[in-house]
Amino acid sequence: MCGSVLRKRSRYHKHQKLSILCLISLTLFSKVNLEEIKDYYKLLGIPRDATGKEIRKAFKSLALKLHPDKNKESADAEEKFVKVAHAYEILKDPISRKQYDLDGEDWKEKRQNYHSYSYYRDHFGIYDDDPLILTLSKDDYDVNVLDPNQAWFVNFYSPHCHHCHDLAPVWRKLAEELEGIIRVAAVNCEEDYVLCYQLSIEAYPSLLFYEKETHYFDPERYRGSKTLEALKQYALSKVSVDIKSITSENWQEMKMQQLLLLICEKESSDCLETEEIKKIAATLEGLLPVGVITDIEFGKNILNTNETHPIVFWQLEDKKIPKTHIIRGADRKEILDTILNILPHPPTLNEKQFHDLRTKLRLGFDKPWLICFYLGTATDLKLELKRLPTIIPNINIGLIHCGKSSSLCSALHIVRYPTWGVIKSGGAFELHQGRDALHEVAAFARDSAKSTNLHALSPADFHNIKRDSSPWFIDWFAPWCPPCKKLTPELRKASQHFTSDVVQFGTIDCTLHRQLCSEERISSYPSMVLYNGSVIHKFHGTPTESAIVAFIQDAMNPVVLELDDSNFSRLTRKSAKELWIVDFFAPWCRACQLMETEYKNFAKSMKQFSEVIIAKVDCEANGDICSGQHITAYPTIRLYPLGSKGLSTVAIYNGHRTTLALKQWVLSMLPSRVEVLDEQGFRDQILSKKYYLPWLVDFYAPWCGHCVHFEPDFRLVARRLDRKVRSAKIDCEANRVFCGHQRVSAYPTVRLYLSPDNYVNLESKNPTDISNKVKEILQDSKQNEIHDEL
Ligand SMILES: *[C@@H]1O[C@H](CO)[C@@H](O)[C@H](O)[C@H]1NC(C)=O
Ligand SMILES: *[C@@H]1O[C@H](CO)[C@@H](O)[C@H](O)[C@H]1NC(C)=O
Ligand SMILES: *[C@@H]1O[C@H](CO)[C@@H](O)[C@H](O)[C@H]1NC(C)=O
Repeated sequence: MCGSVLRKRSRYHKHQKLSILCLISLTLFSKVNLEEIKDYYKLLGIPRDATGKEIRKAFKSLALKLHPDKNKESADAEEKFVKVAHAYEILKDPISRKQYDLDGEDWKEKRQNYHSYSYYRDHFGIYDDDPLILTLSKDDYDVNVLDPNQAWFVNFYSPHCHHCHDLAPVWRKLAEELEGIIRVAAVNCEEDYVLCYQLSIEAYPSLLFYEKETHYFDPERYRGSKTLEALKQYALSKVSVDIKSITSENWQEMKMQQLLLLICEKESSDCLETEEIKKIAATLEGLLPVGVITDIEFGKNILNTNETHPIVFWQLEDKKIPKTHIIRGADRKEILDTILNILPHPPTLNEKQFHDLRTKLRLGFDKPWLICFYLGTATDLKLELKRLPTIIPNINIGLIHCGKSSSLCSALHIVRYPTWGVIKSGGAFELHQGRDALHEVAAFARDSAKSTNLHALSPADFHNIKRDSSPWFIDWFAPWCPPCKKLTPELRKASQHFTSDVVQFGTIDCTLHRQLCSEERISSYPSMVLYNGSVIHKFHGTPTESAIVAFIQDAMNPVVLELDDSNFSRLTRKSAKELWIVDFFAPWCRACQLMETEYKNFAKSMKQFSEVIIAKVDCEANGDICSGQHITAYPTIRLYPLGSKGLSTVAIYNGHRTTLALKQWVLSMLPSRVEVLDEQGFRDQILSKKYYLPWLVDFYAPWCGHCVHFEPDFRLVARRLDRKVRSAKIDCEANRVFCGHQRVSAYPTVRLYLSPDNYVNLESKNPTDISNKVKEILQDSKQNEIHDEL
């Protein structure tokens, strides 16, 4: 072992030191396990799902401890530091991190540059390790500051700016003073330049305030002085809380709810200051209304106390007789703490109770449970835990102590504390991947409890799934990856469109199950795959709720036929009554992937035309077919028209690869029942003589996008109403004055002429609605005619 260590080190140190070094290295390496050196996460002492901020924070603290400038007497300080710096370089960049997660990396003998000690001390994220100041990044900025339940005060800074460092102690103190009322946050513009640019941050530090509820995207720029007092006054002036004034008149009504009561003569110096009362009320908002009683005698009377200026918690448990608790405390923190201690605490569950609950839910009993997995004491969580029941009344809340239930927590792969999880009706279990912020947790609980068809999966679950061949849609993800975080809510929503007998949904965390992910060749996050027995479909495209739903529906009922060697003859034997469009593609071709969704939507939009068949051929899997057809580029789109048999006639598409362009092209190849009229034709056919079949007319303009989209639908209507109406269209660009005289004010306008001077405009542009409406009108007018004749 000594030998191998020496060889590595010789790059940095002179050979005459060899014998001494060997001894030192032995002691050093007995502390730092070699395996840990190879595992960058262990080296930095962070969990595998650490966020960018946690990585930065861990590295900064190691950098300050291990920097060679501070460890001049230690011979291999530089080597150790370089390794840590390298680990940081790899993990901080999402691309290299993913690579490392999936494939690992050998410690390459490459030189890692590093900065001076003071750089790491001063230029490295001022608030990263601050417990009260949330450092926001581009990926989680909007979801947090635009939450209408919470006010935010955000400091945009650069670690290179002196004023920013000057402001730091004030900003920290402010966060402390406003804790529980306003979230105080920071954005490091060095790390998140794009976000700062988008928000037009031109100077550092810039302070933006987002008011609760009313801030809809518009923050206010703070321009006052940057002293603690001024900042605090400004922030508190933005907080409005309802503090009730309680008198003998309204007491009968007020006493029906739980209250925090302050009995206080106006202007009395023994009472809490107005600002403190406001802060307490703001912190307790949504949990406990605050009331002030200024009539001392009345207060003493109803609360049955002899104290002079008591603070009283008026508690009603289960609508029984009210209890009064005198709350003592020197400051806001103590007072709040006492109140929170009196409020009922969620039950702590043990391992057996957890499993029993899950069984119950599997059998369809009980409400879903939100479980908080924690270590140490749950004090920090108290406020949140007690507010949650009012925010999510339909979900039970429980606690699990991961020290006492360690085997359960490790079986559930819980690696950070606190972690929130939901046991859903039906027994599925899911963990929260986002922040430990009250409203984020509540939203997770709500969404997750609803999506009972979404399961967090282990490798064992996955192997079972592959064995029993029922359909599963699986999201392979890493909790730290920003697009993965965006996807999760969409996936939850998508999962609610399907019952579990049609398709089930699962998530697999690749930071926890690396081996499985590498066995399954997951090469990017998030990867979504539909498994159905031996058939595997990979999802491409933007992962939104509707795209996922469409993707699965399409897998169940493909609108695009897949041709291979076994059935390409369906095309070669095509009859003259069919029109075929075939996409010859290769799965690796980027242009083909981009077109996939468009092509599918095009196929869907042509569904009504039963003579049109839309197909595709994978040229990688079916090389013979494609070389037989002389396909030289991907994608190649060919059309085999009506009236020709087999492959005898072919048209090649070279327009835009969009749904609309494809549709227009194919429609131009189909016969239409819609007559094209100009002004003269219109006058002759529709306006001057009596006719037996009513006319349905589409007034359009060639430049109008809606008209172009509507055209195929109008053709469809014409076909459906064949023999009931005659259909026509008129170009209102070429016949503008005429259309004006006909009072056409919007394009497209669809109008049914029953006679030259009797017409009805049809509002809907949905083909089914139009056909139904036309049939209805025809029915009515026929009855009227009969009536008239009688
Ligand atoms: C208040 O003081 C009176 C007179 O000293 C006493 O009788 C009464 O019990 C006291 N009440 C309470 C609630 O301590
Ligand atoms: C799974 O395959 C079966 C049989 O081929 C098919 O009927 C079903 O629609 C497929 N389900 C999904 C979700 O693709
Ligand atoms: C052709 O055969 C393949 C596999 O045998 C099948 O997946 C595909 O759906 C078939 N296509 C048609 C149009 O029947």
